[in-house]
Amino acid sequence: MKKSLTIGSLKGYSTKSKEAGNGKILEKEFSEAVLKQQKNLDANKIYLIQQGRAYSIHPEPDMTLLDSALKQGNELDFKCKKGTCGRCKVLLLKGASSLSEPNEQEKKKLDSQVAQGLRLACQSRLK
Ligand code: FES
Repeated sequence: MKKSLTIGSLKGYSTKSKEAGNGKILEKEFSEAVLKQQKNLDANKIYLIQQGRAYSIHPEPDMTLLDSALKQGNELDFKCKKGTCGRCKVLLLKGASSLSEPNEQEKKKLDSQVAQGLRLACQSRLK
């Protein structure tokens, strides 16, 4: 069973933006819609977006974010698990402090996007 919020399930999400088809606008507005519901968010979880879907993950120490997410039934997209393909890229909305600093592979693949909250789920380790 897929454990994710969908764009349509978020109150206040603009369907106009959904139809615009612009990934950046979509992610920005989607993340704002998720964070507006912060009172319902669990402070101990990591919230992230991948390919227009929001996921919540309970951090499990010493695992990668990807492995932890998959173990918990979240169907994050991935391919190589080596930090080279970029398919596991996620936008962190909340809970970045539960992750180790970006490693060299993430910095190489994502460059300045790391500063914007993007991470490679296969390379991000949970504390
Ligand atoms: S799965 Fe390829 S970079 Fe993470």
